[in-house]
Amino acid sequence: TDEIITLDPGYKNTGSCKSEITYLDGEKGVLMYRGYSIEQLAEKSSFVEVMYLLLKGELPTATELQKFKDDINEYNFVSEDIAKILAAFPSSAHPMGVLSSLTSALTAFNPKAVNAKSEEEMYRAAVTLIGKFAVLASWTLRKVKGLPLNYSDSKLDYVENFYQLMFKNPNKDLQMDPIVIDALDKLLILHADHEQNCSTSTVRLVGSAHTGLFASISAGVSALWGPLHGGANQEVVEMLEKIKEDGGDVQKWVDKAKDKNDDFRLMGFGHRVYKNFDPRARIIKKAADQILEKLGIQDEALEIAKKLELAALEDEYFVSRKLYPNVDFYSGIIYKALGIPTEMFTVMFAVGRLPGWIAQWIEMRQNNEPIGRPRQIYTGAPKRDYIDIENR
Ligand code: SDX
Repeated sequence: TDEIITLDPGYKNTGSCKSEITYLDGEKGVLMYRGYSIEQLAEKSSFVEVMYLLLKGELPTATELQKFKDDINEYNFVSEDIAKILAAFPSSAHPMGVLSSLTSALTAFNPKAVNAKSEEEMYRAAVTLIGKFAVLASWTLRKVKGLPLNYSDSKLDYVENFYQLMFKNPNKDLQMDPIVIDALDKLLILHADHEQNCSTSTVRLVGSAHTGLFASISAGVSALWGPLHGGANQEVVEMLEKIKEDGGDVQKWVDKAKDKNDDFRLMGFGHRVYKNFDPRARIIKKAADQILEKLGIQDEALEIAKKLELAALEDEYFVSRKLYPNVDFYSGIIYKALGIPTEMFTVMFAVGRLPGWIAQWIEMRQNNEPIGRPRQIYTGAPKRDYIDIENR
């Protein structure tokens, strides 16, 4: 054919869309949401305010922020029938698989949201999902631990409510340590959006077929689950544990990661865009020191992580490939200090990334983007005739 097809596996050099939401500069290690630097937002903003910023494009006034919170609280309960779907899962089910299933199930209980077309209908679908997603995420933790489900408390702020949904137990008062809540809030801000990463591209591609918001986000949860993407934060902590048990010889593991015959990779290292320090990793590494100190926690995994980082950043293999710690390298150490089970780390990433996914889905629909349908280079069998089975 005379068509020109440019092959670009992994879309390393392909821009899939125009977007006004997030800006990355991989060389300089810059990340901005709607023009505001991640450093300033992590320092001064709150996760709810950042959710508003990503969705609306502007920082809210106090009135707008309160209305946003009220709108979210209108939807912070989940149908008991979804609890029945949850009950059918084995407690060994990975929380990301449960979360993806329950998110898709939301469609059946909120049918109006599927046909969201106007700006107002899309905003409604967005706050519906933001209200319910935190409940679903917390229910996956309660399932893992075999604990009764909790329900939202609208008197609490979004992150406090998410925390009590995860950790409140019957007949016991829940200590809501401000250090813990602030750390959680900061981590959620840092994960809120990241332009066209694998899961966000998935959400935009599924949504480009005019699939409803919940099913599109469910697909994003599945993409994030992958160990090369959001699943890496769980892999990092499991890797650090292995290195600790192995005596803490980080150089041995750095060498293992370089060995092409060994499929071991240094999890939490490397990035498609950042060829410099991931600005989020820099913030999280500093926060890990501060939070563990404030909570009086000694975690050998943090020391091993720092030694691993040092060893890798002095190693030609990593330096020549511009491999630096990414967002997943230190985040698990903080989640662990906050009492979050390892298998829940990627769910925490998903709760943070939700507003980015939604904002990007709405932008794609409002820009009337065409359905995503890439081409290919065919390298299969040439034309040939059918052979009856008796002649094969
Ligand atoms: C996230 O895209 C995003 O924005 C994602 C994210 C977000 O916020 O949405 O930032 C979140 O997913 C962060 C990344 C989490 N994943 C991991 O930490 C898993 C480990 N990292 C790698 O698998 C890898 O670095 C990726 C997946 C992150 C990036 O893969 P690329 O861009 O396709 O790079 P590549 O696999 O082609 O690697 C280039 C070279 C290869 O060596 P050579 O073939 O040139 O000899 O670097 C090597 C790779 O073998 N390499 C590594 C390595 N990462 C890359 N070698 C050892 N350990 C690693 N971690």
